[in-house]
Amino acid sequence: MNSTKVTKIGVMTSGGDSPGMNAAIRAVVRTGIYNGLEVFGIVRGYNGLIENDIFKMDSRSVANIIQRGGTILKTARSKAFTTPEGRATAYENLKKHGINGLVIIGGDGSFKGAQTFSNEYDIPCIGLPGTIDKDIAGTDVTIGFDTAVNTAVEAIDKIRDTMDAHDRLFIVEVMGRDAGYIALHSGIATGAENILIPETKTDLEDLIASLTEKEKRRKLVNLVVVAEGGEYGDANKLEAIIKERIPNADTRVCILGHIQRGGSPSCEDRLIASHMGYYAVESLLCGRHNVMVGVINNKIHYTPLDKAVKEKQKIGQEWMKIVKILAS
Ligand code: F6P
Repeated sequence: MNSTKVTKIGVMTSGGDSPGMNAAIRAVVRTGIYNGLEVFGIVRGYNGLIENDIFKMDSRSVANIIQRGGTILKTARSKAFTTPEGRATAYENLKKHGINGLVIIGGDGSFKGAQTFSNEYDIPCIGLPGTIDKDIAGTDVTIGFDTAVNTAVEAIDKIRDTMDAHDRLFIVEVMGRDAGYIALHSGIATGAENILIPETKTDLEDLIASLTEKEKRRKLVNLVVVAEGGEYGDANKLEAIIKERIPNADTRVCILGHIQRGGSPSCEDRLIASHMGYYAVESLLCGRHNVMVGVINNKIHYTPLDKAVKEKQKIGQEWMKIVKILAS
């Protein structure tokens, strides 16, 4: 807990954008103002802190944004903030505005920055997990994952139509950085025959054997969903391997890419963001510092920022067994 009374807070989005970030900004701004705080928007994440791109917000600044993807505050992955000089300038700028509390909406890189910053300077930082990757410990949900995974499902369903029409083997690569959540969830929901994720070692021989066996019994429509961060995360390379081993397979690749980051946030993401945004301000008001606001078993949960960064969520191996059975 921190004893300094928070009166002026800054809010920023940092790292890769995720659908629902705007809903979180809205919740922070309006909860702050409701509680008599002055609220400042910081543009382009930590870069805006360093460049003093900081402006006062009011309730109207966040009107009509809950339904919009992207982030009205813009975002960046700041190199300058990784340097002591960059952080010193950032702190000077915060002092100029009298800001004495920060809310950072972002992923693990953003939380690492916040942790270092608050170790060096006396400024309470509250993190909100905004990432499509869902690769943060201390929360069951992250702002943007639900929308991203539904975007992937919608796209894969469309691919299935044409894949089925042509009896093809499709390899679909989804995002997630080092995490396999988008691949696992979208793969299960679209009935993928194989799902390759970084959290589980991929047995290539097993994959080839299962595809060969399906080919023999004329099950020619096969969907392989791969997470970009896995051993075989590069879908084009995986296709080359499969083609070499199963020359008759009619294969195609689709890399979903940044489409997964955009779009109007789902109802779920708007709710998560609104809930977490409210508790971010409440946390600053009651003197919490350097924690991430998460949700575990539908209840708000606080995790020290360094723990949220170091530990990852775990993917239950049971799911991989179920995938095999359901795809037979
Ligand atoms: O962290 C979100 C994410 O979309 C990852 O899934 C992906 O690996 C990365 O960001 C892409 O980053 P960029 O937008 O810089 O290409």
